[in-house]
Amino acid sequence: MSENVIWHRHAVTQKIRARRKSQRPLVIWFTGLSASGKSTIAGALEQILTQQGYHTYLLDGDNLRHGLCRDLGFSDADRKENIRRVGEIARLMSDAGLITLAAFISPFRDDRRIVRDILPAGEFIEVFVDTPLDVCRERDPKGLYAKAERGEITKFTGIDSPYEAPQNPELHLDSARLSVAQAVNQLLAYLGESGVLQAGYRPLVA
Ligand code: ADX
Repeated sequence: MSENVIWHRHAVTQKIRARRKSQRPLVIWFTGLSASGKSTIAGALEQILTQQGYHTYLLDGDNLRHGLCRDLGFSDADRKENIRRVGEIARLMSDAGLITLAAFISPFRDDRRIVRDILPAGEFIEVFVDTPLDVCRERDPKGLYAKAERGEITKFTGIDSPYEAPQNPELHLDSARLSVAQAVNQLLAYLGESGVLQAGYRPLVA
């Protein structure tokens, strides 16, 4: 970045935007293998949060690769750039006062840490959707594992591209054993207990 580009401080801040929404901004980051259930669980959680009156946005790996990240593939460098862009978008959404849910394989620990570090302290909740590889392979909803095993797709996570599991996630979901509803309940319990949803929150319907 050029030294001639200087940050402009605007009068309307994250705090003001968040207060208008009566919520505390948060990035709930789901990481796990393809077909682990990230998008499904994130979508179900978003539905409940929306019903409860929160303002949310769901960033989904497959969907962003249709637009903002359509120029990226699955090399290590492209995945890094994918997560960098998504992290910056999540930061903007958080700055806008939203509760953002992000569902990306995000296979590299360093890249996830970089996203955590660009956000204000406490605003990044890492959720490990821990479905083992053989279960994901069996599910194979898009037939991609079969393609990867036949060598028709290369650099597929878990087959010929690595996945670095989180070592200290805020939440570890044993997702192969949990129904979607149970996973969502575990998330809601965590968010409730840690107080991150409560701060300043005023339900729309008493
Ligand atoms: S990430 O690794 O850069 O975080 P992202 O979550 O955006 O990945 O996209 C993953 C989705 O792309 C998978 O759910 C799958 O549908 C699709 N996909 C296509 N090719 C691959 C591949 N080689 N490895 C992993 N996912 C792939």
